[in-house]
Amino acid sequence: MVKLKMHARCAGCDRIEARWRGCCPGCGAWGTMLEEPAFAGAAQPRGAQTMARHARALPIREVALDADARAVTGIAEVDRVLGGGLVPGSVTVVGGEPGAGKSTLLLQVAQALACRGRSVLYLSAEESPAQVRLRAERLEALADGLLLASDCHLPGVVALIEAHLPEVVVLDSIQSLRDPGVAGTAGGVAQVRECADALVRVAKQRRIAIVLVGHVTKDGQLAGPRTLEHVVDVVCELEGERHQALRLLRTAKNRFGPVGEVGCFEMTGTGLRGVEDAGRLFLGEAADGTAGVAVTVALEGRRPLACEVQALVARTRLATPRRVASGLDVQRLHVLLAVLERRARLPLGDHDVYASTVGGVRLGEPGVDLAVCLAVASSRRRRPVPRNLVVLGEVGLAGELRPVPQTQPRLAEAARLGFEGAIMPAAYDGAEFGLRLVRAPDLVRAIGGVLG
Ligand code: TYD
Ligand code: MG
Repeated sequence: MVKLKMHARCAGCDRIEARWRGCCPGCGAWGTMLEEPAFAGAAQPRGAQTMARHARALPIREVALDADARAVTGIAEVDRVLGGGLVPGSVTVVGGEPGAGKSTLLLQVAQALACRGRSVLYLSAEESPAQVRLRAERLEALADGLLLASDCHLPGVVALIEAHLPEVVVLDSIQSLRDPGVAGTAGGVAQVRECADALVRVAKQRRIAIVLVGHVTKDGQLAGPRTLEHVVDVVCELEGERHQALRLLRTAKNRFGPVGEVGCFEMTGTGLRGVEDAGRLFLGEAADGTAGVAVTVALEGRRPLACEVQALVARTRLATPRRVASGLDVQRLHVLLAVLERRARLPLGDHDVYASTVGGVRLGEPGVDLAVCLAVASSRRRRPVPRNLVVLGEVGLAGELRPVPQTQPRLAEAARLGFEGAIMPAAYDGAEFGLRLVRAPDLVRAIGGVLG
């Protein structure tokens, strides 16, 4: 009888050892080594391995395009973010903080796909089918083609997928799934990696589109290993303040479409509702003549969004004044305050500065610099920025103003929303869209031009 030669492989780092060990010498993890026949994987005889794994190369024109096969959800905001629907055989991760609405959104997506005749399996590793059904009732999401199951063990989940072979699988969430063959708690590095790898394999083999919910940690990173982002095809994030209705869905990675696209939703009593015209969503209700408010037009993907920036400058009682930013980068705020002090002679050393966006939107692009500076200067000087103006411009360390990329769609949006003018870097010489453009070469003249 031929005796099978065995070796041990670490589930965490893939290291192979001739004999089983309690602790992996590669990554130091305990209990991750599993015995397997020595011909599996790397130790396989060379010829056999290349024969078995050989893929066929095709001339580029003969490679089939399956563009029509995308599963269109019919939810316009989701389809736009995905670049036209879910691709068969792809794995998508939807990340977000607890309470962002991931489960709600994906149940709605599952329902919408089922209504369009797709077979959909919604697997929850966190909630029982009864709980999911309860939510579905609230969302009026009881489509016939939608199957529900609850399992938190990887082999069970894979068996369910294999048994039903649906076109789309939603799994909530990757962090609550556990592979009994791998050590560590659910949500840990080894577990998330192993489970994600297994699901990617099933998706590719069976040409099923799999959507995974991913929890994010406090600093906004997807929990678990960074490798999760590398092994999947699409990474989206659902963001928004828990206390506010607005939610934004963005793509951080997309192998089949644009990145940076953004979908706007409103959380209602019956689930998330797409907001196609985000026109005035991020504009506050401050009365005319309020100091410390400036409106800019940010660009999210290809979508211009008018957003209000607010600042409050108040005399401090502390030795080191406070600088607090919400929806804005606090490091950038520090830089802009230094530029305001040095270049525009705006004394801020004995004042606390609070700066924020409206509606929970996060503005990371430098194009909002000038709006932040004008809001701060306006609050400090107690003079309002006229409410019929939008502010566009990046501020340099010398206090100079630089044009923002894609100024034209931003100005067009400002004109559409009824703004009458814009404060701009002097270098801009494009179309005016009927707006009165105030061109300023530097911060000092922008402040002088607006606040007098
Ligand atoms: P949920 O989708 O469970 O968030 P996540 O899966 O990202 O943790 O729901 C988020 C919040 O939305 C929850 O606090 C309840 C609220 N909600 C509504 O306001 N309307 C609804 O129709 C539903 C289903 C939830
Ligand atoms: Mg959830």
